[in-house]
Amino acid sequence: MQIEPQAFDRVLSSMCTEPHPVAREAAERFLATNPGDPGTYPTVSALEDDAIALLGEIAGLEDPAGYIASGGTEANIQAVRIARNRAETRTPNVVMPESAHFSFQKAADVLGVELRIVPTDEQYRADLEAVRASVDSETALVIGVAGTTEYGRVDPIPELGEIARSVDAMCHVDAAWGGFVLPFTDHEWHFGHAAVDTMAIDPHKMGQAAVPAGGLLARSADLLDELAVDTPYLESTSQATLTGTRSGAGVASAVAAMEELWPDGYRRQYVRSQNNAEWLADALEKRGYEVADPTLPLVAADVPRSTFDALRAKGWRISRTATGELRVVCMPHVTREMLASFIGDLDRLEVRASVPVMSDD
Ligand SMILES: Cc1ncc(COP(=O)(O)O)c(C=O)c1O
Repeated sequence: MQIEPQAFDRVLSSMCTEPHPVAREAAERFLATNPGDPGTYPTVSALEDDAIALLGEIAGLEDPAGYIASGGTEANIQAVRIARNRAETRTPNVVMPESAHFSFQKAADVLGVELRIVPTDEQYRADLEAVRASVDSETALVIGVAGTTEYGRVDPIPELGEIARSVDAMCHVDAAWGGFVLPFTDHEWHFGHAAVDTMAIDPHKMGQAAVPAGGLLARSADLLDELAVDTPYLESTSQATLTGTRSGAGVASAVAAMEELWPDGYRRQYVRSQNNAEWLADALEKRGYEVADPTLPLVAADVPRSTFDALRAKGWRISRTATGELRVVCMPHVTREMLASFIGDLDRLEVRASVPVMSDD
């Protein structure tokens, strides 16, 4: 096969990135390993313990339980599954803001729980009054997002934890994207800040690990027990993961990236990405577009559909929010030069649009 994957030089919409060189190298070395079978693949299984210990350190959890999942989707599904299995009612509900990732829709569908979706406030954060009004004695889980997919916003996690506790529900934080930048901000988002029970935090996003490397963290091992099934033909006794065979490459690359980058490398990357986001927001604002403040390295701006389409036609991999705004994620592969070139293309399109069309007649 001669085909090469896409280059990253015009990718502005992805929440994944080029793996760090040490992560790439580790992934290649561990390509043929399966942490789903620890009796046969003990080395990668021990590496997974290291990955969880490192993720715990990042997320303010001293004695973490968890595993390296296929991504944020699996981690979110499993968190809903833990809460559903813990719930004492047969008709549990899950309360989350409308900004939460669509993986929770999948979770609700697969697990048969009622999803109660509440609005966000003018800052695109979970509206606490709406959350309070939606929870009841059958609420199994309250979800907060720490780094939303569309606007990069952080929900008021301590308050959501308190609301969850007030009805004996669990609290899950989706930091799948934000978890590797939030440690360098003032936001309260993790286990040390709030009554959080479970978290999605993905090395294969801002953590610069190879795909697939998602992370599920739980405050205590007994929460993972809610997921465990017996594994008769394996030398281990039970399995809490959703998939059976799993990617050892993902596990190894997550450990390699975190050992290399936590904390200083990630801090430097956060500063670079955040500066880039602010530069882009400023450049768009100066051109008259309405921009949602980049509280984390993600910019959303009200760019007309025709301009968006023209930029995509020029090869820019950009995407739109549910309400149609241009969305640019300043991932580690996104450089200032790329953004300057993007703005250059935008300016050329606008000049063309403002030149009157000459007609022959
Ligand atoms: C906040 C958030 N949660 C979950 C996910 C799903 O992650 P994955 O695509 O790795 O399953 C995403 C994906 O972008 C996300 O932004």
